[in-house]
Amino acid sequence: MTVHFIGAGPGAPDLITLRGRDLIAACPVCLYAGSLVPQALLAHCPSGARIVNTAPMSLDEIMAEIATAHAAGQDVARLHSGDLSIWSAMGEQLRRLRALNIPYDVTPGVPSFAAAAAALGAELTLPGVAQSVILTRTSGRATSMPEGETLAAFAATGATLAIHLSVHMLEAVVAELTPHYGADCPVAVVWRASWPDQRVVKATLDTLETAIGAEMERTALILVGRAIGAEEFDESRLYAGDYDRRYRPVGTDPRFPDADQ
Ligand SMILES: C[S@@+](CC[C@H](N)C(=O)[O-])C[C@H]1O[C@@H](n2cnc3c(N)ncnc32)[C@H](O)[C@@H]1O
Repeated sequence: MTVHFIGAGPGAPDLITLRGRDLIAACPVCLYAGSLVPQALLAHCPSGARIVNTAPMSLDEIMAEIATAHAAGQDVARLHSGDLSIWSAMGEQLRRLRALNIPYDVTPGVPSFAAAAAALGAELTLPGVAQSVILTRTSGRATSMPEGETLAAFAATGATLAIHLSVHMLEAVVAELTPHYGADCPVAVVWRASWPDQRVVKATLDTLETAIGAEMERTALILVGRAIGAEEFDESRLYAGDYDRRYRPVGTDPRFPDADQ
């Protein structure tokens, strides 16, 4: 018996890995994390599967479901939105499973920041503009930020920021970032990336709040940085015609002369 943690992707039901889909189809028990996991994914469950929405449950109750499946020798598909490596609450479940000696494995998923970048048609790391992406959030009612992990500290690097769980704090986010990025810095907010009701607003830090207008629901990502929508950036050296590399030796004295042997 194994608990399979599966990244369910950002919303579109076809943005799950083939491995994740096949595991769902093979498990007689499916625990899924509420409204952010698309209901359509549950259609992959085998008929007669026990399907439980864990949104209203406590950690103890979730572990009780898993313990029951374990006692019956039934594999469990455990679905969380996006990828499991960020803000999934997987860590605390894995710790309990280790303590109980219940086997588990993890199948990654498409994270929402990648779906948001796709909605924008944007590369977040452009040569000469930004070479780092910081995945972060602001503190919430249930989670405070560790000391030092402030938006201002991240903004001081000039990297592209993908700010989660924070659209309800937009005014404060803009105020904290503007001194570092400048009021004319591009910003985009993507609501429900990849869902049918996806919405995208592109603006600058200065114009964002006016551009958004009416209040929107909370599942959204804020992407900030000079790489968002930039046209002025260097081409990557990797594909430059005169760049001598293992897979494309150039010139009379290439660095990797035996590359294609
Ligand atoms: C609890 S976190 C889950 C993150 C998830 N594990 C991931 O890989 O993206 C929920 C937050 O992720 C972001 N998010 C999740 N799905 C999203 C989507 N489809 N579009 C935009 N933002 C999304 C929002 O900031 C939301 O408040």
